Formats: sequence, C-alpha cells, structure tokens
Amino acid sequence: MDSIVGLVGRDDVVADLVAEIRKGKHVILTGTVGIGKSAVLRKALTQVSSKIGLIIQLHDYQAKGQFVEMAKQMLYLGLVSAKELDLPVQFHDMAPAAIEWKEIRNRVNRMSMRDLTQAVIPALAKAETKPVIAVDDLTSLTPTQMAFWLAIFDHAQVVGCASEKKPRVKKLWWKMKEITIKPLPPEVVKDMVKRYVSSKGILIESPDQYISHVVKQSGGIPQAIFDMLEESSKERILDKRKVREMRHDAGIKYLDFTPMVMLLGALIVSMRYIGMGTGDKTLYIMGGMGAALFLTFKFFIFKGVGR
Ligand SMILES: Nc1ncnc2c1ncn2[C@@H]1O[C@H](COP(=O)(O)OP(=O)(O)OP(=O)(O)O)[C@@H](O)[C@H]1O
Ligand SMILES: [Mg+2]
Repeated sequence: MDSIVGLVGRDDVVADLVAEIRKGKHVILTGTVGIGKSAVLRKALTQVSSKIGLIIQLHDYQAKGQFVEMAKQMLYLGLVSAKELDLPVQFHDMAPAAIEWKEIRNRVNRMSMRDLTQAVIPALAKAETKPVIAVDDLTSLTPTQMAFWLAIFDHAQVVGCASEKKPRVKKLWWKMKEITIKPLPPEVVKDMVKRYVSSKGILIESPDQYISHVVKQSGGIPQAIFDMLEESSKERILDKRKVREMRHDAGIKYLDFTPMVMLLGALIVSMRYIGMGTGDKTLYIMGGMGAALFLTFKFFIFKGVGR
C-alpha cells in the first residue's frame, strides 16, 4: 500500500534504521504481522544504498532458497565465481544471467547446510567492504539454519525483520540491535485514509464516521487499514450502515472473563456465610455445594480463559 499513499508516519523509524546500518550494526526490525517492517526496511535500503556498496536482498523464507538468492546476487556483484560456489562445470564461464538457477536450486536442495556455509563464507570474508545482507523475514529461522547465519554475521552485516523472536534462535537475536515498530497513531491513520480515499475516489456518506471507524478497528496496523480500505473501494458508495458493518480482527479486543469468574466465586462463598448467619439451611447447603463445584471447575475455567 505504500506504493499508493507513500510510507506514512515512519520517518523516525527509517532514520533510526539508517543510522544503525551506517554504524555497521546487525539490526532486527520487530513488530506484529502487517505493522510495516518490510516497508520500513525497503525504504531504509533505498536511503543507504548510495553509501554502502553491496546489498544482498533475500526474500525467500526457506533456508536453501535464501542461500540460492544469496549465491546468485554474490555472483552478480562479482563477490564470488561460479567455481568458488562449487556450481557445476558447465556454468563456470557463463554470465550470471545465463545460468539456469532452477537447476542450481535443485542441486542446492540436496546439499547440507554445512556445505552451503562453506561455499559462501570465504567469499563474504574476502569482500573489500563488508556486504550488507537484508533478509526480509527471519521469523521462521530454525536452529539448523542458525549456524549458517551465525557464520554469516562474522563476515557481513545482517539487517532483517521478524514478527516474533523465537527463543530457539535467541543466540542470533543477542547479536542484533532491535528496533520495534509500533502501531500508527490515530492522526497518522486518519491522514492515510484520507489520502487513499482521495486517490481512489470512493464516495462516503459520512467521512468522519468512516475514518474513526477505520482508526478504531485497525488498531493502527497498516495491513489492517489496507484490508479495510481495499474492501471499501469495492463499494461505489459507502453509506453509514455499511460503515457500521465493517469489522477487522486487528482492532477487536477479546472479552476477559477473569473478573466475572472471581465475582461468581465470591457470590457462592458469601451465600454459605449468609446461610450460616441467618440460619437458612438451604442457602447454607447450596452455598457449600456451589463452593465445592466452583473449586473443582475453577481450574478448567481459568485454563480456558488463559488461552
Ligand atoms: N507506514 C505505512 N504507510 C503506508 N503503507 C504502509 C505503511 N506501513 C505498511 N504499509 C503497507 O501495509 C502493508 C503491510 O506492510 P508490510 O508488509 O511492510 O508489513 P510487515 O510487518 O512486513 O508484515 P509481515 O509480518 O506479514 O511480513 C503493505 O502493503 C505496506 O505497503
Ligand atoms: Mg514483511
């Protein structure tokens, strides 16, 4: 969506990221799914590219796919030769564009992570300027891939995104400076909605109601805002009723049952004491039974609520 309305309200984060990259730090951008990590990274890379010679961008989520992308870009950048990468002989004197990467991918899929590491690390190590490797998503990294990445960290600068820092690869997170991206504040969301609506020419019966609805329902998450705007742009005219029917999961807060369960418990216990005090035997017995049942089920109730 940043291609339609521009990257809104992220100048500070982009500047922070650019500064850390220039300092030579490994950086991890964190924040919930759809918050705009990839968009911020893209923007920052356009700002540093003139100062930093080599940027390798990886978009694949799979370890081996990431490796192939890396090898390919290193070959294009002249960091490594086909021979050093251990590619089949027929590719050795070929221009990178002529190489059949699909075939290489199949070959790579059969190689071990260790062999792959040994193929790229020496090439990264001998580069004159430390290459910057931007990996769009590191969320699903596994411990097997971690060794590969730890080796890369010594010879390149890694900048990446993750919607969650999985503890199983925390050794990587320790080496990275974290920049957390937060939801967009309401004024920024308003601005974004206005820009989108005017660029798409959607007719809205009550624009203020529409905007405040999007602000509330999206929780300031750009992907959620985008989903809602896209849905709206399918309508020719948005009247008030349609706006009221709009919902997005990102902004809906789930009801917390805990206080209600506590209150129920207190009520049952007090029934017993009131029964005792007033001599009302029925109330006393009911309160006692209720308390016993409550205690038995409380465990299960809280287990359910906590999920
Ligand atoms: N500040 C912004 N202004 C305008 N559009 C934005 C902004 N931030 C994000 N977007 C748009 O919102 C969508 C989601 O952003 P993006 O893909 O960068 O999120 P993400 O955090 O990388 O998500 P994921 O965790 O799924 O990878 C994209 O279409 C992007 O263009
Ligand atoms: Mg992303």
